[in-house]
This record gives sequence, structure tokens and C-alpha cells, in this order.
Amino acid sequence: MRIIITGAASGIGRAVAEMLAAEPGAHQMLLTDRDGEGLAQVAGAIGPAAATCVADLSSADCGDVIVAAALAHMGGVDGVVSNAGIIAGAPLVDQTVDLFDRIYAINTRATWLLAKAAHPHLAASRGAFVATASMSATQPTPGLGFYSSSKAALLMLIRQLALEWGPDGIRCNTVSPGPTYTPMTKAGYDDADRRAQREAMIPLGKLGMAEDVADAILFLLSPRAGHITGIDILVDGGMSNNLMPATGSGTGQKASK
Ligand SMILES: NC(=O)c1ccc[n+]([C@@H]2O[C@H](COP(=O)([O-])OP(=O)(O)OC[C@H]3O[C@@H](n4cnc5c(N)ncnc54)[C@H](O)[C@@H]3O)[C@@H](O)[C@H]2O)c1
Repeated sequence: MRIIITGAASGIGRAVAEMLAAEPGAHQMLLTDRDGEGLAQVAGAIGPAAATCVADLSSADCGDVIVAAALAHMGGVDGVVSNAGIIAGAPLVDQTVDLFDRIYAINTRATWLLAKAAHPHLAASRGAFVATASMSATQPTPGLGFYSSSKAALLMLIRQLALEWGPDGIRCNTVSPGPTYTPMTKAGYDDADRRAQREAMIPLGKLGMAEDVADAILFLLSPRAGHITGIDILVDGGMSNNLMPATGSGTGQKASK
């Protein structure tokens, strides 16, 4: 497969690139990120199958730039992993227009720009598009109002693309990580108390790792997901089923008679 991966210098994007490189099959990759140094390290370890493109997803021409680099390296595109994202927070009442525009540009608009630029090439290959959303897309998240709403918009954007591009044979899906240990969240989860508190909310009892999310992305890219489009795979260790307050065996209310 010939795959474009955004946010490939770190965390989940990096895991997708490394796991794809380790799979059987002569996969080719165009790895992109704004972090050129990190990108060079990941691509260097993979070898000639991976080319790099340093690009900032907040710019309006990012889709064209990235797809042009992909065509130069691979001659076509079978899959796109639109994974890069940023997190920033404060109560909504304290947020600024600049931050709103920046978060939505990177977390939502860039995926549309990349999809638009890749469309003719994905139609030619009857390929797959996978975006990384978040559990926060469906769960309001204290202090992360722009982040969660930008990811909610991303979920619907991909469902909409699935509808519009089904007739072209292009599958479009999302994965939604729950709490996952990556460079994005490392500082928070290296605090033992905070990590224990979070893990206590996860039925499987541990944070996700980048590879857990990458597994779901690789599945959605692969022919094994050949009849799946317009869905979201939650990779959250079951946490979204465990958001009612933990009150022991019951709520303290008397049973109705
Ligand atoms: N880690 C989690 O707990 C978690 C949970 C839910 C969703 N996610 C989502 O998973 C995705 C990957 O996150 P991660 O945890 O691997 O984070 P990460 O910070 O390790 O990796 C994100 C990558 O995106 C790149 N990036 C950021 N802004 C960019 C820009 N403007 N242009 C180009 N590249 C840019 C960064 O340089 C970085 O390499 C994100 O979309 C994030 O919102 C993560």
C-alpha cells in the first residue's frame, strides 16, 4: 500500500509508520509533520520505503503540498492517515479567537484539505481514509471545549465523506483514542497519582498505548475492513462505558417497588 501519514514524527502517527513498515508487503509511506527532526528520525529507521514532507497543517495549502510530495515518492495513494492534532485548554469563556482558529485549522480543516487533495488518487486506487478523532468528540471534556468540539466536527466530516465518496469506492473512517500514553500526554501521565486516577476509570485497567490505536488504524486501512465505511472505532479500554460516578454497588437510592 502507498500511505500518507500526518503527525508521523511522534506518538500514534509514528506507531502507524513503524508498524506498517514491520508488516509483510512492500508498503511505501509519505510521512509528514511540522517537526522535521522527529520526522527524519522515524523515516531514517524505516529506510527508503519512507519519504518525508515537512508541512504545517494550519496552512491552507497543506493538502496540495502533502499530496504532491506523496505522488513524487509513490506515484499514487492507497490510503491516508490524517492523524495530527493539537490539544489546548481553558474554560471556553477565557478562550480567544486565535486559538479557536488554530485548533479548528489543525484538528478539523486540515483533514478536509488533505482529503480534497487526495480524492482523485484515492478514487483511482479505491483507497481508504482514516482520521484520528478522540473520545472527547463524543464526551464533553472539562477545559477542552475547543478540542472536543473540533474533534466532534471531524467525526461528522468523515461520516459525510463516507457518504459522498462511497460511490467512488473510497472508505472513510475514524478512530477515537481514549487516554493514551504518548508525547502529547506524557507530562500528565508521568505523575503517578494522576495516572492511577485515570487508570481506575478504565475497565481494562491501563492507559492505551500508541500501538493500540495504530492497530485500529491499520485495520481500517486494510482490505479486512473492505466493507466498513463511516464508522468510528473507540480505542479507550472501555472508559466511555464507565463515566457514571463510582458509587459502589448502587446509587444509594431505594429500589422502586
Ligand atoms: N494521546 C491521547 O491521549 C489522545 C487521545 C485522543 C485523541 N488523540 C489524538 O491522536 C492524534 C495523535 O496524537 P498523539 O497523542 O500521537 O500526539 P503527539 O503530540 O505525540 O503527536 C502529534 C503530532 O502532530 C504533529 N503536529 C501538531 N500540529 C501540527 C501542525 N500544525 N502541522 C503538522 N504537524 C503537526 C506534532 O508535531 C506531532 O508530531 C491527535 O489528533 C490527538 O488529538 C490523542
